[in-house]
Amino acid sequence: MHVGEYGSRGGDRRSVQVVTSHRVDLREYYEAEAHHRLRGALRGPRLGWRADFIELLRAEHRTSVADFGAGPGHDVAGFREAGLAAIGFDLAVGNARLAKEDGCIVVPADINQPPVRAGSFEAVWSMSTLMHLPDEMALTALRSIAATTMPGSPLVIGVWGGADEFTFDEEIAGQRRPFYRRSVATNRAIFSACATVTGVDEYDMGTSGYQVFALRSI
Ligand SMILES: C[S@@+](CC[C@H](N)C(=O)[O-])C[C@H]1O[C@@H](n2cnc3c(N)ncnc32)[C@H](O)[C@@H]1O
Repeated sequence: MHVGEYGSRGGDRRSVQVVTSHRVDLREYYEAEAHHRLRGALRGPRLGWRADFIELLRAEHRTSVADFGAGPGHDVAGFREAGLAAIGFDLAVGNARLAKEDGCIVVPADINQPPVRAGSFEAVWSMSTLMHLPDEMALTALRSIAATTMPGSPLVIGVWGGADEFTFDEEIAGQRRPFYRRSVATNRAIFSACATVTGVDEYDMGTSGYQVFALRSI
């Protein structure tokens, strides 16, 4: 793991280069992950968070949900099993293929340009994805995600957290993925610029803290 300079500030040329190179790194990393079928089944508290979200959607009579950064679609499958109309979006084409094997739809697409109309979904879920993006891109991505819902819709965003540090993780040989482990305060500031933050829970996951934000689109 390499520790690098935190963030990319402003809209200057360097920040555009950082974003472009991160996107290439992420795409290659997650295509490799999908190719080798490395992402295992979901377990632990994640399943409880998803069950709670499903309960909320039922209580509000919401029937559709989109998962951004869906990976091979494990949560999409969980939502479908709960009777929801669920679809995922992911940068890696390989993840769309894996999801299809499970009878789920994950569309290969960048979170910043989802190929759907505004207001298409009644809820949004995104786990372990936005911490791959620098601050400005996380804001743009959340704005793009929120726009796929009707105002007032619930969004749950889970991210690995930290003390506003940037690292490259190299768990797959020859691949690297950027991590922006932000504090709750930093994430709250970013997320509240384009949605209403209604709550946040922090979990100690051993190696790192995990933050689960509950939001409403505006
Ligand atoms: C750590 S994985 C999480 C997958 C799944 N949500 C889970 O929790 O198991 C992050 C996922 O985000 C996707 N991703 C990263 N940047 C993205 C972007 N700009 N647009 C769409 N997906 C992206 C990656 O391809 C990867 O599958």
